Amino acid sequence: MFTLPKLPYDYAALEPTLSADTLHTHHDKHHKTYVEKTNELSQKAGLDGRPLEEVVREASRKGEKPLFNNAAQAWNHAFFWHCMTPKSAEPSGALKAAIERAFGSVDAFKDAFVEEGFSHFGSGWVWLVTGSEGLKVVSTHDADDTLVKDGLFPLLVCDLWEHAYYLDYKNDRKSFLKAWLDKVANFAFAEKQLAAADGQAEGFRYPSPGANDDGDRREPPGEGEQRPRA
Ligand code: FE2
Repeated sequence: MFTLPKLPYDYAALEPTLSADTLHTHHDKHHKTYVEKTNELSQKAGLDGRPLEEVVREASRKGEKPLFNNAAQAWNHAFFWHCMTPKSAEPSGALKAAIERAFGSVDAFKDAFVEEGFSHFGSGWVWLVTGSEGLKVVSTHDADDTLVKDGLFPLLVCDLWEHAYYLDYKNDRKSFLKAWLDKVANFAFAEKQLAAADGQAEGFRYPSPGANDDGDRREPPGEGEQRPRA
């Protein structure tokens, strides 16, 4: 059974960018439901006990849409919580260098990320990913995620579903995205993911089935996956 990972910070820690009310609803209701449905459906599919990353890929491969949607949303949200921090700081080190190579500047990257997220139609996710051609910004629809995109390794993601921002920003997704990047984005986490893509660190993994709900407060176990730069 998968557990709902605790937030890696207090519910009010991201205020005023994101309210405690938003995080309670988003984590305690939306994410919790995805985890519960994943447990129910993965058992029916004979996939219980497998790591969530495998469940997502197997569900995608077999075309089991309800399981894929819930398992991918369970994974995406767990990853998303780590993409935010109350101690946000601008990109630095290897991440900053990679961003400047790909986009020209950090500001140009932010503009591309905001534009991709703002122009994305409907629900989904906007990602900073790395691959064989370096860093790029992509968006995915609904529950779709980079676990099932060959050659893409996720560095950072922002939730574009209205439940992520509507209580605080109403329909103003662009203001949410700008504030998110400037005030709470966790570029230190993204830099660690970049090192994992190069095989120099462990990438994010969802807590193993049966792990306690503090599971993802520890260093993620196991090898990073989808390394595009073999
Ligand atoms: Fe969400």
